[in-house]
Amino acid sequence: MSELAARAEKLDATDELGGKRGEFVLDDVVYLDGNSLGALPAVVPGRVEDVVRRQWGELRIRSWEESDWWTAPERIGDRIAPLVGAAPGQVVVGDSTSVNVFKALVGAVRLARLTDPARDEIVVDATTFPTDGYIAESAARLTGCTLRPVAPADVPAVLGDRTAAVLLNHVDYRTGRLHDLPGLTAAVHAAGAYAVWDLCHSAGALPVGLDEHGVDLAVGCTYKYLNGGPGSPAYLYVRRELQDRFDSPLPGWNSHAEPFGMRTDYEPASGAPRGRVGTPDILSMLALEAALDVWDGVSVEAVRAKSLALTDFFLECVAEYVPAGRVACLTPVAHEERGSQIALRCDDAGDVMKRLIEQGVVGDFRAPDVLRFGFTPLYVGFADVERAARVLARTLA
Ligand SMILES: Cc1ncc(COP(=O)(O)O)c(C=O)c1O
Repeated sequence: MSELAARAEKLDATDELGGKRGEFVLDDVVYLDGNSLGALPAVVPGRVEDVVRRQWGELRIRSWEESDWWTAPERIGDRIAPLVGAAPGQVVVGDSTSVNVFKALVGAVRLARLTDPARDEIVVDATTFPTDGYIAESAARLTGCTLRPVAPADVPAVLGDRTAAVLLNHVDYRTGRLHDLPGLTAAVHAAGAYAVWDLCHSAGALPVGLDEHGVDLAVGCTYKYLNGGPGSPAYLYVRRELQDRFDSPLPGWNSHAEPFGMRTDYEPASGAPRGRVGTPDILSMLALEAALDVWDGVSVEAVRAKSLALTDFFLECVAEYVPAGRVACLTPVAHEERGSQIALRCDDAGDVMKRLIEQGVVGDFRAPDVLRFGFTPLYVGFADVERAARVLARTLA
């Protein structure tokens, strides 16, 4: 056994989150794609079966009340809240991340214009996941704003009294770079603008501190580190002090103060329900609720500590096993700039990833030349990491 393999064994033996792996449905594949689709928590199938067979099949319409379907978006929002550092009553679950980016960004521009109607610029992360960029462009056209795509580090330099809202990613989906949420949020506020954060690649992997850092609005998906299942609903956070002024661009009947009043005039609900649109997608929402059980007794700080240990160890194994110069790491080495993934640039990345998957090491490929490996601390162990690096080295040799 190599020195690294022996060390992996020791690290796994003392891993305080090691027992969590047994709460997931996994096989002997090294699954490093939880930053794309989280693994299935073992509790989910039985709960979904109950939702379908009993709640829907037997109780039918009664389940909106008797199975608490109606209140699910806020109830599940409150389960996610502590994972992103939010007090209860500020997170609502529903719709896709894309739709919530739209609500949050147009909502942020409208908030800015309540006090300063002349604000006419939206700043967006130029390196963003594409959907955020497309929606920001449309939001700018709809609100009569100019869109300024800027790398996150350059954002402070372009802020001014024309900035209405800034849309940023907490962790870059391609490189795994962790951006400075507290510092950038403070800079946005100093310019009198509103900060909207996309937490897709940070929620469930590291502390976010939404309340602590005064974030205005945030969105995120639940199918990556929160393991909610394919296409599980996203969430929207609106800071409590802003909720009464949040003017959603998608006011559906579910966000009405009196949804069953069937009134022709729109009166927004107060609190988190104001972020709703239409009928909640109950099946996937309740699958997500079951999936969140794996977080019982887990601290995000422990998850972060293990995530950094896993990614450090992967970098060490890659440096030891992979021939020098064969890959280049795009993920920052500094802990304060690293999310929970490692991105390696490599010429024939698409083909390499295909061969890794054939050998039981699943990461993903991001065009044009990036191998992406996500480390989900709840179910990835150190032996997995050592094996992944060893198989990578063999494949690249
Ligand atoms: C940063 C980021 N935003 C948004 C999305 C996707 O949004 P949606 O759930 O609407 O497909 C992803 C998907 O991977 C993402 O990485």
